[in-house]
Amino acid sequence: MTTSPLGNLHKEIAQLQATIESLGSIDALVEAEPFITGKRSVLSTMQKSLGALEPEARRDAGAQLQAARRQVEDWLARRREVLAGLARSAQLEADRLDLGDVVVSSVRWPASTGHASLVASTQRELEDVFVAMGFTVADGPEVESDWYNFEALNMPPAHPARGMWDTFYVELGEPETVVLRTHTSPTQIHLMESAVKNSTLPIHSVMPGRCFRRDTPDARHLATFHQIEGLVVDRGITFADLAGVIETFTRAYFGPDISSRLRPAYFPFTEPSAEFEVTCTICHGEGCRTCSHTGWIELGGCGVLDPAVLSAVGIDGDVWSGFAFGFGIDRCAQMRHQIADMRALVENDVRFLEQFS
Ligand code: DAH
Repeated sequence: MTTSPLGNLHKEIAQLQATIESLGSIDALVEAEPFITGKRSVLSTMQKSLGALEPEARRDAGAQLQAARRQVEDWLARRREVLAGLARSAQLEADRLDLGDVVVSSVRWPASTGHASLVASTQRELEDVFVAMGFTVADGPEVESDWYNFEALNMPPAHPARGMWDTFYVELGEPETVVLRTHTSPTQIHLMESAVKNSTLPIHSVMPGRCFRRDTPDARHLATFHQIEGLVVDRGITFADLAGVIETFTRAYFGPDISSRLRPAYFPFTEPSAEFEVTCTICHGEGCRTCSHTGWIELGGCGVLDPAVLSAVGIDGDVWSGFAFGFGIDRCAQMRHQIADMRALVENDVRFLEQFS
């Protein structure tokens, strides 16, 4: 009688099962895996020994080994799930706020109440800065037609610049005609249209609000974020007026230690256009992960209104000129409070939120 090349497969498998059950953490499991199913396992050694067998015996032994391996992999996957579950519960337990011991008489009165979120209070502060400079505050819809979000801003259908904004479309009407606004710039168009209709030019307004982009969130981006748009339409407005407003705003909001710079850029609705950047407050300009090691953080864009935009809303570009800007409110909060990762703004962790009451 020949001994099976698989030796005592049952015993080996039972031992592997016991090993798997004894694994106490995901780390331990990861460490043990090569010895259970990987290259250094009994299963692999047995697999190698099959080569020496006659074809028929090899087929039988191979099938047995395959079934055994599947069984072991299954135990391993289940153990992994159990361990992950335990790790999650331990984390939850560690984060739990124990309110069990709070006796009513020990609650201080007045009990603490909620407060505006950091984004909301930042929006307020930004509005205040601009109101102090003579701007009014307006708002506009979050769901826009293609015309407001793109076309009136000098981006006809298929214009390549549309690719600058990864857009969420709303299933309404013809495909791709209704969007979640990708920026606050369409509110400029609403404002100019209504000023033309009601003969209320000039305009000096800021328009804060929520915007949406199909972006993967990271340290500097959120898929739902906030911008504040600025629009001035008046007589004799030039780029110098724009630069003055941006600089005045930067100093008023961030303080004298933070500088701003304008860099030439392209936006279809302004000409010339610029990007507006401020010193990274996380590293004070030295370069860090948050600013991609540039020392600068881009807040938004700006420029002199393109005549095509004025004519789209029926404003006479020979009489009126203007500028516009738009930048991230969340980014401002991030820079003002040195928040390395912007995702903290939406994670609703009270330990973070409480710091800004
Ligand atoms: N809407 C642009 C964006 O979100 C930013 C912007 C650029 C706004 C230039 C403007 C402007 O008003 O003039 O990327």
